[in-house]
Amino acid sequence: MTLQNLKTQIIKELSQVSPSAKLDAEVLLIDSLGFSKTELLLKRDYEVPAEKEEWLRDAVARRATGLPIAYITGHKEFYGYDFIVTPDVLIPKPDTEILVERAVDVILSMMDARGENLLTVCDMCTGSGCIAVAVAKTLLEDERVPAEQLPKFTLADISEPALDIARRNVAALLGSGPDAALILSRFNFVRTNLFDAISEAIKYDVILSNPPYIPHTMVDELLQDGRSEPRLALDGDITIDGDRATNDSGEPADDGLAIIRNLIPQAAAHLAPRGSILMETGEYNAEATAAIAEAVGFNTEIHRDLEGQLRVVEFY
Ligand SMILES: C[S@@+](CC[C@H](N)C(=O)[O-])C[C@H]1O[C@@H](n2cnc3c(N)ncnc32)[C@H](O)[C@@H]1O
Repeated sequence: MTLQNLKTQIIKELSQVSPSAKLDAEVLLIDSLGFSKTELLLKRDYEVPAEKEEWLRDAVARRATGLPIAYITGHKEFYGYDFIVTPDVLIPKPDTEILVERAVDVILSMMDARGENLLTVCDMCTGSGCIAVAVAKTLLEDERVPAEQLPKFTLADISEPALDIARRNVAALLGSGPDAALILSRFNFVRTNLFDAISEAIKYDVILSNPPYIPHTMVDELLQDGRSEPRLALDGDITIDGDRATNDSGEPADDGLAIIRNLIPQAAAHLAPRGSILMETGEYNAEATAAIAEAVGFNTEIHRDLEGQLRVVEFY
């Protein structure tokens, strides 16, 4: 079948199930055929090989179940870098890019102020590792940061399958070039329930986190579209024991803040003097997160994302 005919068929099928049928079709075709966007437009009469057509038809069927395109192609662009993703990790979201941007600024000014000593950075709830990797890559692209000065990064998550993806992303995005061995030696990976497995003697100059913060019932609704993202990555109403949290009236909690309530004091205990914490939240619980941080003695500032929503709370 020609590329043009197949594309038309795919768009028609996907338009029954996806609000972004044309874009989905283009991404799947580009990914399977290895064409650029321009080639996709120009090579209308290209005969699509049978095995590619079979893969595409299977991909369309999976997309029709609600599975996101990124889980079908196995990768997703975030902060200009291409990350490996599987249903074991949250698909990196544009909302999180402001956290990376702010983290790079904070780290660069700390490096300026502190000279030669290597900084330490923890990415708690790392998932795919997208935050730590994007921060490290952006720092290394800055002429002020030679590889020898790259901070030490700890990537932490409760999920071993997620940590495996984080390891693969670190290797894929930072594991080539003349300084690869040095750069990779700056990364370590910890399986931990928040900071449980990290000794309090270990302090970080910067703690970054995009923890689960979505209210439980909102997660129920989100997951109905077949997105297959791990509930573990989304549901903020979970106790340290993994149970549904309760509020002051003994009712099931539904503000998405139970993990953040545990995380903030633990992060405070692992923060080096003059350190900073940057935490992503929902636009609906950013102010409550700032209040929790202020109650343990931090000053806070809330940053908006590219859509203008309250998104990242900075504590210092
Ligand atoms: C919202 S996702 C963020 C993933 C990634 N940092 C990003 O921004 O795309 C939250 C992550 O927290 C992890 N997580 C959930 N509960 C945790 C806990 N108690 N301790 C450590 N990690 C946890 C999940 O496995 C998931 O990878």
